[in-house]
Amino acid sequence: MTTALPLRDSYGRVLRDLRVSVTDRCNFRCLYCLPETEEAANFYRTRAPLRPAQSPPSESVILREWKPRHELLTFEEIERAVRLFATLGIQKLRLTGGEPLLRNDLPNLVRRLAPIPGISDLALTSNGFLFPRLGRPLREAGLQRISFSLDSLDREQFRKMTGRDGLPSVLTSLDLAAQLGFAPLKVNAVVIRGLNDQEIPRLAEFARERRLSLRFIEFMPLDSGRAWLRELVVPGREILERLREHHTLTPVTPTNPSETARRWTFPDGRGEIGIIAPVSEPFCGHCNRIRLTADGQIRTCLFSLHEHDLRARLRGGESDEDILRWIREITLGKEERHHIGEAEFEQPQRSMSCIGG
Ligand code: GTP
Ligand code: 5AD
Ligand code: SF4
Repeated sequence: MTTALPLRDSYGRVLRDLRVSVTDRCNFRCLYCLPETEEAANFYRTRAPLRPAQSPPSESVILREWKPRHELLTFEEIERAVRLFATLGIQKLRLTGGEPLLRNDLPNLVRRLAPIPGISDLALTSNGFLFPRLGRPLREAGLQRISFSLDSLDREQFRKMTGRDGLPSVLTSLDLAAQLGFAPLKVNAVVIRGLNDQEIPRLAEFARERRLSLRFIEFMPLDSGRAWLRELVVPGREILERLREHHTLTPVTPTNPSETARRWTFPDGRGEIGIIAPVSEPFCGHCNRIRLTADGQIRTCLFSLHEHDLRARLRGGESDEDILRWIREITLGKEERHHIGEAEFEQPQRSMSCIGG
């Protein structure tokens, strides 16, 4: 079944990119996402000693209760959802979490999704900890691309930022991913002022050594602790200036207008830098993304305050035609943009760990 018309929102944006979270659980406790460690508490305490009382840290506990298993979409349900989205013109599929490698039998899901007609790009975002075990079966199942998170190259600092002594595993994962032919290989580093911003040049060097795409990301207010502060964001422009103290950088012409990163290359062509600046330079005007959470809720924006219950429709016996019609309808309500930094900004109930990067 194919439907001629692509999925279009009320601002004329055509959606081509679906991100499916396969679990809300994570085996890391990143300071910018699930800040539940002693280190995270200390960091935020020293940065915001005068934080107003309306955002109590205890909220993080309430916000990140794991969903019971029966509320998660089954592989059959995810496959049906992706098929439906593919008939609506979705071409790129990215599996996310939580940490997607925690989902039992993930290669089997990839095997079901890879051959779906219309899906030309199948990628995964992972923290890399479990990848040494799962890399090969995922590749064999048809996974095409992978992005890893790596915020620090210092083992102790990595532990402090993620709550886990995971640097050696992530480095092994990068080697393995390159060996297995995942390309281009992307690495995401969320930059937080006073925490890992001193590592910007070192991370750029790492991109060159390993010939990969290192993307610096501005910290967004999507942390479960609601401890985000504007002062902790290192604007993309500043990241670029800091890089230019060490390197001559040449902008890369985007291959796709909906790319989140602005990219730069070095004179010898080794490695690449990306800057993802959703806070200081929002890219909502070209957004082509829609998200499905692990418990079957459609989010039309990373910052949506309202979700649409696909699971109920999948389980309620609705026909494909009815679901397709409904998806078109809710897409018309896709938010124009986020409102970070504006008085009316309201942080979504769920943190990035539940929505998926
Ligand atoms: P591909 O093009 O599929 O490789 O992915 P990408 O370049 O869009 O990057 P990826 O999906 O790895 O996203 C990188 C980071 O960008 C995420 O971890 C988020 O921090 C941020 N990001 C991704 N999508 C959005 C979005 O729709 N809105 C905002 N504000 N940030 C986003
Ligand atoms: N701000 C920006 N990016 C975030 N990520 C998670 N939380 C945040 C946040 N608060 C990104 C990280 C991770 C991906 C899954 O989501 O880059 O790699
Ligand atoms: Fe798209 Fe919303 Fe992200 Fe803007 S904030 S780029 S509209 S998902």
